[in-house]
Amino acid sequence: TSHHLLLLPGDGIGPEVAGEVEKLVQWFSNRGLARFEIEKDLVGGAAYDEHGVALADDALNRALAADAVLFGAVGGPKWNDVPYNQRPEAGLLRLRKDLGLFANLRPAICYPALAEASALKREYVDGLNLVIVRELTGGVYFGEPKEIVTLENGEKRAVDTQIYTTHEIERIARVAFELARQRRGKVASSEKRNVMKTGVLWHQVVNEVHKDYQDVALEHILADNCGMQLVRNPKQFDVIVTDNLFGDLLSDVAAMLTGSLGMLPSASLGAEDPATGKRRALYEPVHGSAPDIAGQGLANPLAMIGSFAMALRYSFDLGQEADLVEKAVANVLAAGIRTKDIAAPGANTVSTSDMGDAVIRELETL
Ligand code: NAI
Ligand code: MG
Repeated sequence: TSHHLLLLPGDGIGPEVAGEVEKLVQWFSNRGLARFEIEKDLVGGAAYDEHGVALADDALNRALAADAVLFGAVGGPKWNDVPYNQRPEAGLLRLRKDLGLFANLRPAICYPALAEASALKREYVDGLNLVIVRELTGGVYFGEPKEIVTLENGEKRAVDTQIYTTHEIERIARVAFELARQRRGKVASSEKRNVMKTGVLWHQVVNEVHKDYQDVALEHILADNCGMQLVRNPKQFDVIVTDNLFGDLLSDVAAMLTGSLGMLPSASLGAEDPATGKRRALYEPVHGSAPDIAGQGLANPLAMIGSFAMALRYSFDLGQEADLVEKAVANVLAAGIRTKDIAAPGANTVSTSDMGDAVIRELETL
């Protein structure tokens, strides 16, 4: 079978890091290890310049038809003055919404070779490998009413509303349990049922779903404690599942455990198509378009390459190939090869393209 991948490089360093993934795709094809049908389209500022919109209908339809979307990054000062609803980020938001991407997976992997860059001491993070599964389309960021009203006495009152339904909690819980099955078999579910009704329902529904996953160990951890435990002893975690707001905070905390923005991949998954059993999915590095270093060959492509590895694992059922890519990345880092963002001051550094080539050279040896 041929895997259908839509590549949306975007703006700034997006096209530079996407280019390194194209090399990898080529390598897999040349080796006969996997067949890809790769399409490319515009998103963000690049799409605005061409079509006057941050994501053209045509690109959206291609995304809906693809097995997976690999997204670079969007944005930059060039588009500061475009209409708000066509700003580059609008392209990403439309994709998330129209693909129904409700589950955001953010791994925090600390490569031993980079442990010094972590916010924590080496022994706490060396070998760290956890994933935060954040609910992405519900909760307090979307709940209505959401408003600022002026009261009779002239005071203002701001309201945000946290809403979760059984269905929303159930589907995100299933993603977390399925993921844990492919990993170390542990889920920590995080909410604040001590003070929030949504937390009470979250806890109840996760327990209910757990009955279908008795081979996975489940613990419940209050979100504030979870933040503390992430800093105190992050290696205790395998999969953490949580709501939109807590997930936003906890995944940024987890990011700092790994050291560098240029290293962090992510996946956003949608509902399973009952007919094919496939999920809509978009993979992207956590970083943005980095206009400050764009066009200079300085971008670290490893977050994008890691995002491609996640696509191999979760969309294409190529778990072994994903392991290979991740192993190659670990070996390249262990050999001391560094782009500037992850190098010690004064150390030798390589370009975006050299880093991509180094990963491929390492793959040849595995
Ligand atoms: P950013 O992630 O683009 O850059 C932050 C800092 O990290 C910069 O100094 C940059 O040079 C560095 N950096 C980021 N990725 C790197 C990589 N792969 N290799 C080496 N260094 C890297 O975030 P910033 O500066 O806040 O935003 C820049 C633009 O990107 C803005 O227009 C913003 O709206 C957009 N953005 C887009 C995102 C997306 O497409 N998902 C996410 C975040 C920001
Ligand atoms: Mg955030």
